[in-house]
Amino acid sequence: MKVSLPVPSNACCPQAFYTYGTYKEDGTPNFGLFCWFGFCWDGELSVMACIGGEKLTKDRIRATGRFSANLVTEELLPLASYFGAKSGYDSDKMQVDAAISKGRVLDVPVLEQSPWIFELEVKQTIPLDDSEVYICKIRNTLVEERFAEKARENKGPMPVDELKPVVGWGGGTFFKVGERILPDA
Ligand SMILES: Cc1cc2nc3c(=O)[nH]c(=O)nc-3n(C[C@H](O)[C@H](O)[C@H](O)COP(=O)(O)O)c2cc1C
Repeated sequence: MKVSLPVPSNACCPQAFYTYGTYKEDGTPNFGLFCWFGFCWDGELSVMACIGGEKLTKDRIRATGRFSANLVTEELLPLASYFGAKSGYDSDKMQVDAAISKGRVLDVPVLEQSPWIFELEVKQTIPLDDSEVYICKIRNTLVEERFAEKARENKGPMPVDELKPVVGWGGGTFFKVGERILPDA
């Protein structure tokens, strides 16, 4: 028997997580944690990302028109979780022990610890009630070398079982992603 839930809730949108990297006005990096992230087609594979309220990541995406989306893995979860809990408006947010480098195509900060990173350029901004959706061109996909061959030759899917991303919801409950089921490896 099914019952209806009273209101759609952020707790009902299990998603993979990405930390978005932007440069602040002073040129230093900032990272936030985001789950309203998905893919779309706009003549090529593209990304749609939604940011609500006011936050530093949003300010910097508006100002620069670009950001990195760094896949959150089990290993990266403690740091990513911190990036989601602490506001970028707090000046000490980025006093963390994290290896950060630069994108290969866009001037965006990337997290060395993330094995799968998109360098994104905002093509279109869609204003919504208290949020904005960014439709983004994927200018580069930066992956750990061991995953690159298959991905480059389109031989196989993103190896989700090896990347170990986490899924969950915006409230901050996280789950492991399971093993590949079909087709047999
Ligand atoms: C698990 C998790 C997921 C989140 N996903 C989103 C999201 O998709 N969109 C959004 O606007 N904020 C999201 N947030 C909130 C931001 O991560 C949070 O406001 C953070 O402090 C922003 O950092 P910043 O000020 O450095 O940009 C999420 C927070 C958590 C803990």
